[in-house]
Amino acid sequence: MADGQRYYLLRHREVPDIDQIAVYEAHEGYSALRRALKEFTPQAVVDLVKASGLRGRGGAGFPTGMKWGFLPNDGRPRYLVVNSDEAEPGTFKDRELIEHNPHQLIEGMVISAYAIGSHEAYIYCRGEFLHGAEQLRRAIREAYARGYLGENILDSGYSLDIHLYRGAGAYICGEESALLESLEGKRGQPRLKPPFPAVAGLYGQPTIVNNVETIANVPMLILHGAEWYRSMGTEKSPGLKIMSVSGHVRRPGNYEVPLATPLRTLIETYAGGVEPGQLKAIIPGGSSVPLLTPDQIDTPLDYESMMAAGTMLGSGGCIVMNDRTCMVAAAARLVKFYRVESCGKCTPCREGTYWMANVLERLEAGAGTDRDLELLLDLADNIGGKCLCPLGDASLGFMVSAIRHFRDEFEAHVREHGCPLGANRYDTVNH
Ligand SMILES: Cc1cc2nc3c(=O)[nH]c(=O)nc-3n(C[C@H](O)[C@H](O)[C@H](O)COP(=O)(O)O)c2cc1C
Repeated sequence: MADGQRYYLLRHREVPDIDQIAVYEAHEGYSALRRALKEFTPQAVVDLVKASGLRGRGGAGFPTGMKWGFLPNDGRPRYLVVNSDEAEPGTFKDRELIEHNPHQLIEGMVISAYAIGSHEAYIYCRGEFLHGAEQLRRAIREAYARGYLGENILDSGYSLDIHLYRGAGAYICGEESALLESLEGKRGQPRLKPPFPAVAGLYGQPTIVNNVETIANVPMLILHGAEWYRSMGTEKSPGLKIMSVSGHVRRPGNYEVPLATPLRTLIETYAGGVEPGQLKAIIPGGSSVPLLTPDQIDTPLDYESMMAAGTMLGSGGCIVMNDRTCMVAAAARLVKFYRVESCGKCTPCREGTYWMANVLERLEAGAGTDRDLELLLDLADNIGGKCLCPLGDASLGFMVSAIRHFRDEFEAHVREHGCPLGANRYDTVNH
């Protein structure tokens, strides 16, 4: 364990075999569910989640209790859908949660579904997560056998079924409305919003879509209370967040930190510092967000501070880049990801990511022209805010910030017909 780190959501690191139901139960597992069903009305659970200030961990940071409160009271069936698609480059926390402690998620789902009055819940699992899906499948089976799922759970009169659905490997299916299309058996493309899923979601019915980490927090809230949760973080960003750290650091991995922990503590204390070389840039919240520069390393890791620093906490995928990293190559690599993953529904995103990737590739290869930087910014201008979903905007975050902070480096690629650092995109260090 790194200095001063405490584990809550990542408790499996201290409790071997907690993915087995008997071990999970021996460590307070499903006691939150027992308590919720016995001592809490559904509304009391919603009120607790509201009071805790828990915010969605899938990227947007929307207050979870408030989202649950948007469900219309019109007697229609309601669905809970857990988003386990996790395809954002740099983010790998949900994967650890489902692979190593699947019952924590299942327990959180039963409590959450009880709170919102749902009797049918789904997990949309990223297609590539073979082991994670197997772990979830087994955990669901075990939970049924122990009476935590199915009819009349723990003699409470409340019933719930959970279905596991595996995606086919498309990043866009992490976007909640494309996810719902895919879950309905259609092509995974975003829907026009409004209406939002809480009003018209799966099969047109009121639906709550929440991230794995968000729902995994819920048992802990029942056991320890909102005040305890609020004792960490800030007023607007309370609680804990799992940060995935990758790139040029000594100890890449997932770290669970109270929100508002300085970025420096995450990188230098927990992840062991930059290696090799010196820090050049940090993407703090997954590949969709603008970069931070070394002078911003003391920024607290909370939603508001990150926003004030010109970026976002996003999904917590912190990518650390050293001074040997070519910003043009990094932008080319990331934009190519979005070009490949654009679903093609909106023209600005489909065409714009294609052309940005082309221009970046030629800049990287040393065949760029003086006009290319303005062309890239113009293309970005024609994508931002002009699509049905934020995938197009996500493709711009790193590139536009890289041009802003490292314009010299982009210009040098034109002037010197190649990378002034002598770097190429594979110039990374194997740990
Ligand atoms: C292109 C794209 C990909 C996304 N991928 C994910 C994902 O893999 N997992 C996730 O929880 N949210 C993802 N989101 C955000 C979801 O649309 C949604 O906001 C989230 O699942 C809501 O859960 P939360 O409120 O618990 O964060 C993505 C959004 C976009 C635009």
